[in-house]
Amino acid sequence: MIIRPKVTEGKAIQQLVNLYAVQGLLIPLSLHDIYERIREFFVYKIEDQIVGVASLHVIWEDLAEVRSMAVHPDYQRRGIGKALVLRCLDEGRDLGIKQVFLLTYKKEFFEKVGFQLIDKSKLPQKVWSDCIKCVKFPDCDEIAMSIML
Ligand SMILES: CC(C)(COP(=O)(O)OP(=O)(O)OC[C@H]1O[C@@H](n2cnc3c(N)ncnc32)[C@H](O)[C@@H]1OP(=O)(O)O)[C@@H](O)C(=O)NCCC(=O)NCCS
Repeated sequence: MIIRPKVTEGKAIQQLVNLYAVQGLLIPLSLHDIYERIREFFVYKIEDQIVGVASLHVIWEDLAEVRSMAVHPDYQRRGIGKALVLRCLDEGRDLGIKQVFLLTYKKEFFEKVGFQLIDKSKLPQKVWSDCIKCVKFPDCDEIAMSIML
């Protein structure tokens, strides 16, 4: 079941995201980052446990980014990640967003959801504001992918 999280679930979101942040796959999130942006998140819950998370961050009137996409290792390859991305895209459509992009190492997964490779240098400057928090900044080796809605 995909729902909006409660603020009180911020710590569970942080644990899931930071599981992959320590591996360099996601940007780490502080609790402040999460509480401030709690309305951007979707969580996938099984019984009472958050097993997946994703967020859609609006950048501009025509552009949004899928961020903090994570599925717990015990629940991967069951369609949860895909369902979360599709939920983010539905929200993008509802908001009138034309293009959704993301930075990732998981090319095959996002291709299956309909994203295509794009030239990272063509993304607008404002996209990079959160990247300074990343341990890899400024030598980012992630690929950029996008989908038109
Ligand atoms: C990437 C991630 C979110 C995928 O979640 P998931 O729930 O396992 O993915 P799904 O089960 O919804 O997979 C959807 C499709 O993609 C495929 N897929 C999933 N992960 C894949 C991978 N790493 N490589 C290739 N294909 C993959 C699945 O086999 C499935 O294919 P199908 O539609 O033909 O059956 C999950 O592996 C994860 O949390 N990884 C660590 C964090 C991370 O890298 N996040 C992305 C950062 S942008």
